[in-house]
Amino acid sequence: MPKDWYEWHDLYNTEPKLQQRLEIVQEYIAYSLNALPDGAIRVVSVCAGDGRDLLGTLKNHPRAKDVYARLVELNPQLVERGRATIESLGLTKQIEIINGDATLATNYVGAVPADIVIVCGVFGNLQETELNRLLDNLSFLSKPGAFVIWTRGHSNGITYSDNVRKILIASGFEEVNFKLTATGDMGVGIHRYLGENLPQPKEQQLFVFSGVPSKAR
Ligand SMILES: C[S@@+](CC[C@H](N)C(=O)[O-])C[C@H]1O[C@@H](n2cnc3c(N)ncnc32)[C@H](O)[C@@H]1O
Repeated sequence: MPKDWYEWHDLYNTEPKLQQRLEIVQEYIAYSLNALPDGAIRVVSVCAGDGRDLLGTLKNHPRAKDVYARLVELNPQLVERGRATIESLGLTKQIEIINGDATLATNYVGAVPADIVIVCGVFGNLQETELNRLLDNLSFLSKPGAFVIWTRGHSNGITYSDNVRKILIASGFEEVNFKLTATGDMGVGIHRYLGENLPQPKEQQLFVFSGVPSKAR
């Protein structure tokens, strides 16, 4: 059992579910980059970890130079690792990873509205009411038409991703793609935000993250 979120990231080395999830997330990020019109592409990553999903995609993507991103992550060791990767890719002028609380609207000011919003490894760490609240607050993070990329694990035979997809559709998002990992217990989705952007957040706290690494789903 990982004792903190830094250790949790070591599971990427051994868990097929996480490895397959990362592969699909990177596929969706690349798809979004390809689909967006010429010019600057703004990306935000909520609870970004060490940023391997976005940074691993940009490593080989022809539109890397168009991307301006802010990754928000609370664990300082993960931030340090993310920064080292950003430096190694030569992207320090465009990509920042900040050591901050991703639940607070202030930490996105200047980086939103985004064309791509990455919320991976987040929904399973929220109460259902908080999922609705975060989706509602995406109006602050997202441009109209923004791609929202998300993951939701299953456990005890409960296909939690079905519920996420229903809530997203009911909240006015359009599904672009959805895949299960080959392990069958992790949903990975990409939706488009169809609403308007709200230049000011409805509330300062966008959601409450209540998950713990030893029980992460
Ligand atoms: C399940 S991991 C997912 C990490 C990454 N998005 C990924 O998919 O690999 C959840 C992440 O959320 C971070 N986290 C937890 N609470 C946070 C908060 N309030 N603000 C920013 N990050 C937070 C943890 O440190 C951890 O890196």
